[in-house]
Amino acid sequence: MAPPKAKPITDEDGNVFRLLRQLDLAPEASQRSIAEALGLSLGTLNTRLKSAEAAGFIKISERSGPDRRQRFAYVLTPRGAAEKNRLTESFLARKLAEYEALHAELTGTASGLVHIKHRTELMQNNLAPISELYVSYESAQKLKVEAGNLVSHDLSPRQICDLELLMNGGFNPLKGFLSEEDYNGVVENMRLADGSLWPMPITLDVSEEFAASLEIGQDIALRDQEGVILGTMTVTDRWTPDKSREAEKVFGADDAAHPAVNYLHNTAGKVYLGGPVTGIQQPVHYDFRGRRDTPNELRALFRKLGWRKVVAFQTRNPLHRAHQELTFRAAKEAQANLLIHPVVGMTKPGDVDHFTRVRCYEAVLDKYPQSTTNMSLLNLAMRMGGPREAVWHGLIRANHGCTHFIVGRDHAGPGKNSQGEDFYGPYDAQDLFREYQSEIGVEMVDFKHMVYVQERAQYEPADEIEDRDNVTILNISGTELRRRLQEGLEIPEWFSFPEVVAELRRTRPPRAKQGFTVFFTGLSGSGKSTIANALMVKLMEMGGRPVTLLDGDIVRKNLSSELGFSKEHRDLNIRRIGYVASEITKNGGIAICAPIAPYATTRRAVREDVEQFGAFIEVHVATSLEECERRDRKGLYKLAREGKIKEFTGISDPYDVPADPELSVETENVEVDNCAHQVIRKLESMGLIAG
Ligand code: PPS
Repeated sequence: MAPPKAKPITDEDGNVFRLLRQLDLAPEASQRSIAEALGLSLGTLNTRLKSAEAAGFIKISERSGPDRRQRFAYVLTPRGAAEKNRLTESFLARKLAEYEALHAELTGTASGLVHIKHRTELMQNNLAPISELYVSYESAQKLKVEAGNLVSHDLSPRQICDLELLMNGGFNPLKGFLSEEDYNGVVENMRLADGSLWPMPITLDVSEEFAASLEIGQDIALRDQEGVILGTMTVTDRWTPDKSREAEKVFGADDAAHPAVNYLHNTAGKVYLGGPVTGIQQPVHYDFRGRRDTPNELRALFRKLGWRKVVAFQTRNPLHRAHQELTFRAAKEAQANLLIHPVVGMTKPGDVDHFTRVRCYEAVLDKYPQSTTNMSLLNLAMRMGGPREAVWHGLIRANHGCTHFIVGRDHAGPGKNSQGEDFYGPYDAQDLFREYQSEIGVEMVDFKHMVYVQERAQYEPADEIEDRDNVTILNISGTELRRRLQEGLEIPEWFSFPEVVAELRRTRPPRAKQGFTVFFTGLSGSGKSTIANALMVKLMEMGGRPVTLLDGDIVRKNLSSELGFSKEHRDLNIRRIGYVASEITKNGGIAICAPIAPYATTRRAVREDVEQFGAFIEVHVATSLEECERRDRKGLYKLAREGKIKEFTGISDPYDVPADPELSVETENVEVDNCAHQVIRKLESMGLIAG
């Protein structure tokens, strides 16, 4: 592929750049001092200020006050800040081209030169500062005030993670959320429109209404969930993506069992916006502040420590002995220092929360030689995209100043698809990484599965054990570890460190002591509330944990009194129930929910909310529509048939029958007590209550 063509730089560009840089550095300066700093007459400066204003790069306003030299105030607009960043990049690219030409002339090896986009060992300087999208502190203060008047977009948790890495250079070479052209290139062949390698769509998804209210060229403020403005974006692109195509191409299947595909269809907005971002401030983190580093902070640290080679270890799990062995071996193999670089942004639903994990990492850090190992937390929102994700992780680590990257078995694997098969082969990620290694700019240290060889009392890569028939190979899978933790069983020392196990047990007590949610779903009149009540009484009789009943009617009275029965309102109602249930579960209680909850996607969302903290038991009260209608306890079916109640579930509104509930109970000719008992037995079999 031919290297991308840089836009020629004109003298005019130089003038604009110098002006914008000066205003960015000293936005409070008087006209005279700006003129002095730039070596211009006041008249020339005036002309340049006017044309920068006309181009939309700066805003000029009149200041009040006695000092005539301070009559005007200048502030960079988001577009001006983005232009300054663009020009900085162009100048750097030109300098590099000059260097390349000089190198070619001196060595006569023109054909051997590789463009910066294809960073090679020769050209790469992993320790030099990387470009960020932030304006100077002074400009940020002003821009923040200006941005207060812009239309705002409230960022989702995932978008906040993406924005942080866009702004601090972690997603270099991206300069903002992808444009449509870049997006198409990324989806189709992992390349931006300029040819650079980029495997993961970083898109700003929004609702159709919000997108329709904007004009192309408009600047918008990007706010975190507390309303703090983190940056601005100039909207250059707006389009409705083909999400099924995105799922197929990027994640390999349009299957909602894949967490990112589920997010794409059920959480992300329908429309994407693209455009350059101007950074105002980093998202605030109150936890583990000293352990978080931007790419430039890590580069500076490596410079200071004299670390020329750094191998990064990506993880979303607690570190056990196998991981320690793997990282030791990787550092030795690459002759490099080790960076443990765990993801603390968003990982796979159901993972151990990052607070617990970081405490586990800190406990293990003592077991590494201090002078050769470091740990830093990465606020990345993972997609669990396997091979593409591995390439993406590599690029991110290159941006963080690393030279090597560990890719093990099933890197960033999403688990099983809806047919119960793996989405990707165990070493697909390594294969794709190998193919793009030189462009990624970090070298892969690949590992096969590590297993414990009892006779030698050590971990070894499974494929390197030659005497496998004569030795005892031990391994504990993630699922098995979870089971042992849940049931309070022993976790052997050969598998993990006592400190790590103690930390995990502290957060995850055995299942019989954890909170959980029983979620009944079924048609109106199916018997949900009656069974839920009986279950509540039985659980209270057993004692040990507080029990809360969130019955459909009670919730509608106390939490959702303003809501009707449209899809939107029903979803809101169920999400509220899910939120309360997840809080109860988190705090060790039992939540029993009994709404109709007719939509499978909403039930799944509630499951995800709850499963972060404890078990979710979906119970389908499978009374048929005919039977519910025959019972018609509240007389509602009759009214619905007469058309006097609209949107009535089962009659004039849909009900998605649960495809895979933990339990399905029949109520026809079965006692209520028996139905409740079936649930109790299920809870016992899951270890949630003592047998
Ligand atoms: S939902 O869909 O989950 O939000 O419904 P839910 O909050 O469980 O509320 C269901 C109760 O409201 C009564 N009701 C209706 N149900 C379904 N469709 C329509 N249009 C409707 N209008 C009122 C009905 O009595 C439900 O109570 P249950 O206990 O399920 O019989």
